[in-house]
Amino acid sequence: MSLDEVKRRRTFAIVSHPDAGKTTLTEKLLLFGGAIHVAGAVKSNKIKKTATSDFMEIERQRGISVSTSVMEFEHNGYKVNILDTPGHQDFAEDTYRTLTAVDSVIIVIDHAKGVETQTRKLMEVCRMRKTPVIVFVNKLDRPGNDPFELLDEIEKELKIKVRPLSWPISQGPTFKGVYNLFEQKLFLFSGDDKQTVSDDIIEIKDIHSPELDKYTKPYTQKFLEEIELVNEVYPEFDINTYLSGEVAPVFFGSALNNFGVKELLDCFVQIAPYPRPTVTDVRTISPFEDKMTGFVFKIFANMDPNHRNRIAFLKICSGKFERNKPYLHVGLNKTFRFSSPNAFLADKKSIVEFAYPGDIVGLPDSGNFKIGDTLTEGEILNFKGIPSFSPELFRYVENADPLKFKQLAKGIDQLTDEGVAQLFTQKSNGRKIIGTVGALQFDVIQYRLEHEYGAKCRYENFSLHKACWMETTNKSQLDDFRIRKYNNLALDKQGREVFLADSPYSLQMAIEKFPDIKFHFTSEF
Ligand code: G4P
Repeated sequence: MSLDEVKRRRTFAIVSHPDAGKTTLTEKLLLFGGAIHVAGAVKSNKIKKTATSDFMEIERQRGISVSTSVMEFEHNGYKVNILDTPGHQDFAEDTYRTLTAVDSVIIVIDHAKGVETQTRKLMEVCRMRKTPVIVFVNKLDRPGNDPFELLDEIEKELKIKVRPLSWPISQGPTFKGVYNLFEQKLFLFSGDDKQTVSDDIIEIKDIHSPELDKYTKPYTQKFLEEIELVNEVYPEFDINTYLSGEVAPVFFGSALNNFGVKELLDCFVQIAPYPRPTVTDVRTISPFEDKMTGFVFKIFANMDPNHRNRIAFLKICSGKFERNKPYLHVGLNKTFRFSSPNAFLADKKSIVEFAYPGDIVGLPDSGNFKIGDTLTEGEILNFKGIPSFSPELFRYVENADPLKFKQLAKGIDQLTDEGVAQLFTQKSNGRKIIGTVGALQFDVIQYRLEHEYGAKCRYENFSLHKACWMETTNKSQLDDFRIRKYNNLALDKQGREVFLADSPYSLQMAIEKFPDIKFHFTSEF
């Protein structure tokens, strides 16, 4: 099959609440794609669940996880790029940012647990960007919720319409398999934890044929009734509603048992979008344009404190990226050539000669890049859609070693460039506030400041609800707001003004009293 290089690319992320099965599913997809040959290759990279408060473990994992940041493989003529999102309880803003670089998302849900907090938060980012999502309901080999109830919960909690493309026949100990409504095939389940492609596929075009009963007894009648209900309740699958982010196709399976994974992948490569046009401050860039453009969505610092080398992850948006070709770093107005850009295979890095839209290349960097930076062949433009997201936890940061003031400032500057956390400066008193999405990031920052920059910091607790970026055309209302809320105003790193809302109530009051000011939880709107 020869597909256009752009059209054959599928760049996506798998997201889930911890423990729903994201790592297992990723690994099974890699097995099918031939990117790894033994189960366990990705799993061993996973940050152990017991390590939720052990940031040293995170540090150790940080090195390893460079290689799982992007996992690429070929499947049925398609080039698949999976972008890893940290599967940790204490997830970081990094996870949100990664979602700005994907063209679609697969959400994994444990069918016994339903929709959980982190899934809800990640879905908000997908909704904001209208990212197409597919839902994989996992762990059908275990007892769980009724599928209809679960689908209702997904619609309600994730605020997206769903359309099942497969349907389970019973579940838990009596799980028989799934019927694939997309391909009209029955997939029979045998829970032997096998690591190979299942052969137990029966093609049944007409589910009312007596043949079905041979395999689905004694659940045939119930299954037929359910399918009837599915067809009554959910409109026919329309790929356009999926691509526009309105409807999420749903698959059922068991990642651990390798069940339903190949069907998911086969359907995914067919329906998932290839790289979409990207918006910049000047114009919209089509992935089919000849000239290379791309943006940095993630930065990984080297583990070795003596070599402050980093890897900047560039998402190619158009054209063809070539090794050793000069590219303009728009922010610095400086030209760079990259002699050893990396591609990512699940267990190793390798140097790439060229890459196409949708691909991610790792650029070795000595501190020139920050998140959101744009590379072009000379055109002056900046990609949009790589916003900062409001942190959820805030602390004042103070210098704990007066002799290391400069080191601290530099460390905080670089770590926040890397996207480890956000920095705000309070307008009234100039105090620095660090904001994160997960509590563990505070420990990580403190540790890294000490080990990489020789600086010491101290935190002071600070209870805040959200940092909100503001938008208005009513200048006098904004001036009035500034006077009244002076103590709650701060500047972000780019110098944009934010309102630090103490509580949901104070935000609500601000919204009511200042109706012409819009308060946003992200820096781009
Ligand atoms: P995560 O990345 O979303 O955090 O989840 P992960 O894949 O690590 O899966 C969490 C746990 O759920 C693992 O068990 C995994 O084996 C199990 N699991 C994943 N898919 C299925 C499935 O389809 N059925 C069943 N029954 N279990 C599944 P664990 O005991 O926590 O870890 P481990 O000891 O197996 O490594």
